Amino acid sequence: MKVLGILGSPRVGGNSDLLLDQALAGAKDAGAEVEKIILCQKKISGCLNCEKCNESGICAIKDDMPEIHKKILEADAVIHSVPLYFWAMTSQMKAYLDRWCAFYDADWRLHKAYYPKMKGKRIGLITVCGDPNVSTADPIVHSFKTTADFTKLKWIGTVMASASSKGEIVKNDKAKKQAYQLGKKGATL
Ligand SMILES: Cc1cc2nc3c(=O)[nH]c(=O)nc-3n(C[C@H](O)[C@H](O)[C@H](O)COP(=O)(O)O)c2cc1C
Repeated sequence: MKVLGILGSPRVGGNSDLLLDQALAGAKDAGAEVEKIILCQKKISGCLNCEKCNESGICAIKDDMPEIHKKILEADAVIHSVPLYFWAMTSQMKAYLDRWCAFYDADWRLHKAYYPKMKGKRIGLITVCGDPNVSTADPIVHSFKTTADFTKLKWIGTVMASASSKGEIVKNDKAKKQAYQLGKKGATL
């Protein structure tokens, strides 16, 4: 059982990172092998819509994303954690998500080779925003949830928390517990 954590915050050790660590701890305690990818430490360009992947399923851009595509395909669950930047996901997370394009053919159907690996893969999301009203981050949830449905993934849930300064989330026991449980769910069939 492999659970992959994807961090979309450029603030390593910040709120979404801490919650992602909680989720990965939950997954590990449930027996999973876990790995965290910190997107800001990778080179990930935006999708060029060059359509080369439509035939091959391989992205033409030579950066760190093809390696991440492989890790996504191999994982049983993928948990994303991202803060809200101007009512949307961070640019790091958006560049990563747009590159999921490589999983689809010209008709936006999963490539045959990927279908068995993607179908039913568990996917979860953690959002953090400065606004005390956590639903301010709903646009991120919409983006991921719709992508999950479109990609035949299994949605395992969302943790939405509020925090502003770096590490402030450590005081939020409820969010930490929810993130831990989300990770456990990622590791449970
Ligand atoms: C460029 C930028 C834009 C932001 N935009 C919003 C926003 O639109 N709404 C909001 O509630 N918080 C916003 N925030 C606050 C962050 O979501 C908040 O500080 C969060 O805790 C950062 O998480 P991190 O520690 O994981 O990076 C913004 C922060 C930055 C740096």
